Amino acid sequence: MNELAAQLNDVIKKSNPHVFNLLSNLGKKLYYPKGILGQSAEASQKATRFNATIGIATENKVPMHFEHIHESLQGYSPEDVYPYAPPSGKLELRNEWKRKLLRENPSLQEKWMGLPITSNALTHGLSLAADLFVDENDTIILPDKYWGNYQTIFHVRRGGNFKTFKLFNDSENFNVSAFRECLLQQKDTGKAIVLLNFPNNPTGYTPNEREVQGIISVLLEAVEADINLAVILDDAYFGLFFEDSIKESLFGRLAGIHPRILPIKVDGATKENYVWGLRVGFLTFSSESQVILEALEQKAKGLIRGTISSSSHLSQSVILRSLQSFKYEEEKSKKFNVMKRRALIVKEIITQDKYKAAWSFYPFNSGYFMCLKLLNVDADKLRVHLLNEYGVGTIAINSTDLRIAFSCVDEEDLEELFELIYRGINDLVTKE
Ligand SMILES: Cc1ncc(COP(=O)(O)O)c(C=O)c1O
Repeated sequence: MNELAAQLNDVIKKSNPHVFNLLSNLGKKLYYPKGILGQSAEASQKATRFNATIGIATENKVPMHFEHIHESLQGYSPEDVYPYAPPSGKLELRNEWKRKLLRENPSLQEKWMGLPITSNALTHGLSLAADLFVDENDTIILPDKYWGNYQTIFHVRRGGNFKTFKLFNDSENFNVSAFRECLLQQKDTGKAIVLLNFPNNPTGYTPNEREVQGIISVLLEAVEADINLAVILDDAYFGLFFEDSIKESLFGRLAGIHPRILPIKVDGATKENYVWGLRVGFLTFSSESQVILEALEQKAKGLIRGTISSSSHLSQSVILRSLQSFKYEEEKSKKFNVMKRRALIVKEIITQDKYKAAWSFYPFNSGYFMCLKLLNVDADKLRVHLLNEYGVGTIAINSTDLRIAFSCVDEEDLEELFELIYRGINDLVTKE
């Protein structure tokens, strides 16, 4: 084992052995080398005469660049575009995102959290968390309704085994008792990765206050049974809370509640700020120990350096400027209202009597999506039929569930969309 990795492990072990036990083998081996980037960072502080350290090119003291590229980036200085961003992200952006987290999550206190580490958006953030904490045959506990890419991130790449629990109980609430049963089965192994995503993809659900209290008490019961928990909060659709749910991340609720619980927040600008292609996300740890936060950051930084090296500097500069813009809150709330109106209209449409025999639906109160539960036809058959006959694209989640992204259908088209889905269902029913 590299000496720096061993030092980080010692620091973590001394400060909180449970966090050390949560690390994967890869996580234990990781460290941030004092290589070119370390030396170059040192030089950027002290090399006042010439800085001949890093592998970029400069000309007249600015990063060398093509004029024809820069013509389309007017308003951005070459320094904010062309040089490598640090592996863990532009410091100003990380600080800005932290301020945003503290502003938007009343339960979160600065003392419990590290500085957000920039990732190449959420998929990458999730993948960093998986690399750090998931070993072959570790158990990942998550609801039965989840984003399909988790399979590749946690199972295919890392060998974690999924144990799912039913997201909803018979009274259409978050299924606290199913979650409890699933989690307590981990008593023998003493470790679990809990993966929670609210607003949920595909259902569009975020739990209410009572359900959240249930989730927290289950987690506390599990740690009392000596299960160490890495709790990953995938907050991709954060902020889009339209109705009666909690309106902050579970990350804040879990921060500092028990030394055996390591809350890990994965979030980013992708969906919240409608910049899917820019690829700016964050990975944030919570711990009461500053040395653990620093050690985990070193490990994550080593991982980033060894995979993508760093995320797009231009994208980070664009997001930083957006977060600092006086127009940010105003535009954000405008878009929120568009999404909220759509969600509420969808609810009005789908609950009409004429549709009762065709579908029910899973509870939804947030996010981009809702999920129909089809009563008479196979979801994938319907999906194909809708595409071929009506030019309507939907996602079949399994044989009964059809996900509708109302995020990409204008308000005035929603009625027609569901009418066409209904028509498609009737076509299939009459054919059979
Ligand atoms: C729940 C969830 N998490 C993460 C992601 C990935 O986000 P990103 O595009 O930032 O990688 C998605 C994208 O669909 C998602 O639905």
